[in-house]
Amino acid sequence: MANSYQKRDKYTAKAKAEGYEARSIYKLEQIDKKHPVIQRGGRVVDLGCYPGSWTRYAIQKVGRKGTVVGVDFTAPKVSGATFFEASALDVSPEQLLEVLGGPANTVLSDMAPPTTGDKAGDHYRQIELARRALYVAAELLEPGGTFVCKVFEGGDAQDFVLEARVLFKTVKRVRPDAVRKVSREWFLVATGFKGKPVEPPSE
Ligand SMILES: C[S@@+](CC[C@H](N)C(=O)[O-])C[C@H]1O[C@@H](n2cnc3c(N)ncnc32)[C@H](O)[C@@H]1O
Repeated sequence: MANSYQKRDKYTAKAKAEGYEARSIYKLEQIDKKHPVIQRGGRVVDLGCYPGSWTRYAIQKVGRKGTVVGVDFTAPKVSGATFFEASALDVSPEQLLEVLGGPANTVLSDMAPPTTGDKAGDHYRQIELARRALYVAAELLEPGGTFVCKVFEGGDAQDFVLEARVLFKTVKRVRPDAVRKVSREWFLVATGFKGKPVEPPSE
């Protein structure tokens, strides 16, 4: 018998009908409708962008004057964005900044490792990616900027929220309706970036 992952749900069917690469689009759309995270003319970084539905949504939202840069092991077949075909752990903020042409308004991360069924292991592998995304956001965002990041619930999730709270005025845990009921994922939505922490002077 098909489990809930195998069943075609309404969001899978909707994504197909609307020409999106993945049902994930509705997670971002629902987040963006409630807490606007992408602005017209904005500069957006999309970490873990394959197969490209968030990228496509971001391109539409920023419009012709905006810039979208994506990072994943495989580049989506979506035109209107620049892609780094690599691990986000290996692409430096400086490389992203060069393509963005200025500080980012929004950093998105939907990064997730392949899940194994080992909940704790999956959580720790995923939170490592979330922390990389937070680092990239802290390096690239302009003051006031926004960070949206997938998180698999687990032992380090609350610490991750606290780490984000140091950097952003407002940090929320959001679970859009499009997240599957059986999933342990939620999204950190952080707004009002306080600015890059000042580095201590070197001795
Ligand atoms: C849920 S999918 C993203 C779906 C995408 N947001 C969309 O709407 O089409 C998660 C992605 O994270 C990517 N990922 C995992 N580890 C990564 C890493 N180290 N660097 C970049 N991307 C990574 C995977 O390759 C996968 O494509």
